[in-house]
Amino acid sequence: MLPIIDLDIYRSQPLGSPAVVAECTKAAEALITYGALLLQDSRVSEDDNATFLDLLEDYFSQPLFELQKTSALKSNTEKPKCAVDEPCLRVIARLEPDQRPLDISAHQPDPKCRFFWRMGDMPPYKTQFPALNASNVVPQAESLKDRWPSIMGKWGSAMKSAVEGVAQMAAVGLGLPRETFTDAGRYGPHLLAPTASDLVKYDKKDIILAGFHTDLNFLTIHGRSRYPGLHIWARNTGKRILVQFPPTGRYLLVQAGKQLEHLSGGLIKAGYHEVVVNEATIATIQRRKVEYPDRPLIRISSTFFWHLSSDYDLAPIPSLAKRSSDTNVQNKGRGLLEDSEDPIYEPMKVGQQVQDELKHIELMA
Ligand SMILES: [Fe+2]
Repeated sequence: MLPIIDLDIYRSQPLGSPAVVAECTKAAEALITYGALLLQDSRVSEDDNATFLDLLEDYFSQPLFELQKTSALKSNTEKPKCAVDEPCLRVIARLEPDQRPLDISAHQPDPKCRFFWRMGDMPPYKTQFPALNASNVVPQAESLKDRWPSIMGKWGSAMKSAVEGVAQMAAVGLGLPRETFTDAGRYGPHLLAPTASDLVKYDKKDIILAGFHTDLNFLTIHGRSRYPGLHIWARNTGKRILVQFPPTGRYLLVQAGKQLEHLSGGLIKAGYHEVVVNEATIATIQRRKVEYPDRPLIRISSTFFWHLSSDYDLAPIPSLAKRSSDTNVQNKGRGLLEDSEDPIYEPMKVGQQVQDELKHIELMA
């Protein structure tokens, strides 16, 4: 079970209070050790998540020609970068055979569609990366277009606010000023980016819905999906964890991405994960067929990518880079999810890092 971090403590008590300091330290340690945490935020409404999931199920159950009218949609184009990435293949090889992800070597595109909806402010300056900072497109179907902006905006704002809380808690827990990360991402192209997988077509155990990978952004936050299937790997043990939200309560899952790894000089590593059809997914499909016979059988992931600003200069923060190398020396060895060769975190614009990663996963020509 992942550590549970309480955002309410951070939001309701003074910054220097012992409870806040302890919770922020716990958040930073969770990201260092697991690359992930569960977040409790009493402002998050399960009803809003359900309304969002209903909207996306309705959208993705439209005929293909309707879907193709929306340019904010990408279908079956994302490939797991890991399949051709040497450091990533070495990571897989070092895992115990029964803890390895499903085999992605065939390098098939993931059978999923993704919709991008930008959240947050456009840069007030001329960005060097206009392609990464595009505006939003509303689906034009009569049944969707009126409710689309408000539902996307409401759920997206809740996730954005929650993940920015984690970014501040992590900064405090790492001994940095609390706005260190949120200032660096003030004009980031934050994206509410739900994916959809057709569970009528993809209903067999061990089908890969999203192959083993890490996320390229700073922090990713997920609401509860209706179908299990997300596996993450803890950095400290190299063991696969089946993500399960506590049955009741207002929880979100937060995972570290490549920009946080880069900025922390590897003290925090981007978390590996995959989405597959497992036994729990199949059991949920069977149950929902009976309980909701009129609803489409589509797995929606309630995913939000929080980014640093595209024009921000990405380079390891010296105090974190030092702690990272001290820890490596202390441990004399590496965690199972460390590459055997030291990664080099070259200084670059965030937009450059994003473009390099998108080329790998073929979302950008
Ligand atoms: Fe991901």
